[in-house]
Amino acid sequence: MYKQIGILTGGGDAPGLNAVIRAVVRTAVGEYGMKCIGIEDSFDGILGEPHTMTLTQKTVSGILPRGGTILGTRNRGSFVKMVEGKPTFPDIPIGEALANLDILGIEALVVLGGEGTLAIAEQFHKRGFPVIGVPKTIDNDLAATELTFGFMTAIDIATEALDRLHTTAASHDRVMVLEVMGRNTGWIALNAGLAGSADIILIPEIPFSFESVAQKVFAREKSGSRFTNIVVAEGAKEAGKGEIYSDAEGLRLGGIGDHVRHRIEELTGKESRCVVLGHLQRGGSPNAFDRMLGTNFGACAVRALAEGETGKMVALQAGTIITVPLSEACANIKTVPVAGQLVRTARDIGISFAAAEEAKAVSKKN
Ligand code: F6P
Repeated sequence: MYKQIGILTGGGDAPGLNAVIRAVVRTAVGEYGMKCIGIEDSFDGILGEPHTMTLTQKTVSGILPRGGTILGTRNRGSFVKMVEGKPTFPDIPIGEALANLDILGIEALVVLGGEGTLAIAEQFHKRGFPVIGVPKTIDNDLAATELTFGFMTAIDIATEALDRLHTTAASHDRVMVLEVMGRNTGWIALNAGLAGSADIILIPEIPFSFESVAQKVFAREKSGSRFTNIVVAEGAKEAGKGEIYSDAEGLRLGGIGDHVRHRIEELTGKESRCVVLGHLQRGGSPNAFDRMLGTNFGACAVRALAEGETGKMVALQAGTIITVPLSEACANIKTVPVAGQLVRTARDIGISFAAAEEAKAVSKKN
């Protein structure tokens, strides 16, 4: 049994990180009699002069409903270098981090993060250091787990935003566009669109056409609904075109919502407004489901370590927490199945994805 384990959080934050930290500490200390060290600012905390904090049942008391991470996080670090578009893991920082872990007396790690952070965690495992990963992505796009914590809270927030946009859209007869997170996948847009009664949902998996968007707006107009609510994932793209970035380097997505708003005004002559929900989806308190999922992940991660597992990630599959190899966890992204049930349901109830084919079908019908 390990005497002392470390825990760190990496990548963008998500509501529920503190729930996981609390459960890891309570389980490690209370159930297994281990000591727990919190590593600050992701893997950066074990480089150079280490910055860590001792975590006890007392220090994690009261953090369950708190947003963010008490340990701090970093998006990119010195552990990954891109070589010809592929991530490589230089030996120097990993060697330095392993030496620091030894000095600190940390014998195993629980790593909370998305694809990038977990790929670094796997490098520690490959060098013989025991590691268990906990999946974290607000976009819910890790293939190995059915759900990640924070995602349900993000849907709640996006749904509330859509509800609020609904009343102002209806009052002004406007087209309101809500831009939500979702780099490669449209899970937040699709689920919030269903829960928040969107009329059009634009997601990366279904390239859209503006002709089709305009047709839906006109169809609603014809049936007496003079307003339209649209939810668009930040990574959504027009058929034949690329994503829209908010920075010159093409690293940060953003701007698709305003582009949609602008084109709608041009094509329909209707007034349109865009709201970018951004980091409101990631900040603040986790909902009950995410607290519960985060707690379950945290406790199961420590149990896995205590039972001698390493190089694994806890994952939710068929309602149960299991462990899967980290290599498998990082390998595939989970995209929205375009012929799946959720998309089908949305279409059944009259929501448009504004796919280019839909525009042709409508033109033929008229
Ligand atoms: O990958 C999660 C995510 O929230 C994306 O949806 C978004 O594009 C990105 O992170 C934002 O990152 P940052 O916090 O660096 O702005």
